[in-house]
Amino acid sequence: MADARPFHWEFKPEPVAREVFRVEGGRRLSGSVSVGGAKNAALKLMAAATLTGERCRFTNVPEIEDVRVLTEVLRDIGVTVDHPERNVYEIASGDVDWLFVPLEAAAKMRASFILLGPLLTRFGRVIISNPGGDRIGRRPVNLHVDAMRALGAEIDYRNGYYFAKAPGRLRGGAINFPQITVMGTENAMLAAVLADGHTTIEPAAREPEVDDLIEFLRKMGAQVERTAPNRIEIEGRRRLRGADHSVVPDRIEAGTFIAAAGATHGKITLTGATCDHLGSFLDVMASMGVSVSCGADTIEVDATNADLEDLACCDIETQPYPGLATDLQPPTCVLLTQARGSSRVHEAVFEDRLEWLVELRRMGADVEIEDQHHAVINGPSPLHGADVEIGDLRAGASLILAALVADGVTHIRGAHHVHRGYEKIDAKFLELGARIERLSEGT
Ligand code: UD1
Repeated sequence: MADARPFHWEFKPEPVAREVFRVEGGRRLSGSVSVGGAKNAALKLMAAATLTGERCRFTNVPEIEDVRVLTEVLRDIGVTVDHPERNVYEIASGDVDWLFVPLEAAAKMRASFILLGPLLTRFGRVIISNPGGDRIGRRPVNLHVDAMRALGAEIDYRNGYYFAKAPGRLRGGAINFPQITVMGTENAMLAAVLADGHTTIEPAAREPEVDDLIEFLRKMGAQVERTAPNRIEIEGRRRLRGADHSVVPDRIEAGTFIAAAGATHGKITLTGATCDHLGSFLDVMASMGVSVSCGADTIEVDATNADLEDLACCDIETQPYPGLATDLQPPTCVLLTQARGSSRVHEAVFEDRLEWLVELRRMGADVEIEDQHHAVINGPSPLHGADVEIGDLRAGASLILAALVADGVTHIRGAHHVHRGYEKIDAKFLELGARIERLSEGT
């Protein structure tokens, strides 16, 4: 049971072991590499496991920092999380005795807010840190909170924490989001599956990771269905059971490697991957001249026939699924630096996702940043090694791509951000023939 004590804790971010990637560019990638399970599915599946006291088992879970942080958060509140072998996690939430998700969790990982819905609906209350607090940047969760209120939750906000209560059981209702939100949709769904009555979520996000969560919830006995492309309907149940699930392949990791093969004019095979969720991104690849062939669970990329000059420029715009994923905007931008002509980039989902282009420019890219949402990339530009800094996960992986293309040596500081979402990225690039090593900062 939560008490008031934690709110007097002084928040001090833990020191992070800072790392640097050292990359020697100029080699074409070749060979085969495996793609893991999707970060953005695994975290929500693990949260869903708290909806039942029975054991849930997940396979194909990526061994990444965000999964490690969520594991820690779950164990802190009394959930048993076993990790019997690599990529396998078993979760049993019989004894949850501490309904409190602290700022430390939110500071490390915004996705910890996904625990709001399941803990509130199962236990009737939770106190959870606001990842949008001033201390860690502007990351709104207002739509998640509004969704819980639409299901009858009472939520107060004090000292950086949401104090959420469900008098009795949450009750089904109509959740109408003013815009599409992936985690907002998922949080709403996780709350509604144990609510009393019928819930409609509109417009609901269509990302494959949302559908993976729906599939798992149905295995748990939930009555949840996508009744139209942008509508999810749920009939609440009193109780859910444990279930097993293999996490859907990570389309963002796959797209990152496809762009890397294209940018280095390499030839690679991805295993454990599917083209099914990459439609808009593959359209961009096709129009640029990167050849991609799709098998049942393999993807082959061949860019060896294209000389640098032959990659064609392409205007791109990120959108909610099935549009081009905002998480694939950075790797696509690296590829655009190697394409002939001017490409317009419209980042329509987030306001801060073009900032990393400043670092790309330091490596010789010809980039004009027009405003928070628009940039122009002129190419092809020869990139050169530089000392650059990673600000976030996807930008970090893309600076590695740029370094693979660049002439000379690049040092990329802040490498730990990349481990949040990519399992063994340096080892995977090594397997493909890249020259990359991970160093502690200062060595
Ligand atoms: C998820 C993914 C992230 C991906 C993003 C968009 C996870 C853990 N993360 O993030 O990798 O880039 O989808 O595909 O799954 N917004 C609000 N208020 C809210 C919630 C969102 O204003 O309460 C805004 C955001 O600032 C953003 C837009 O809505 O501009 C879409 O964000 P959203 O779809 O919610 O992204 P996440 O679910 O956080």
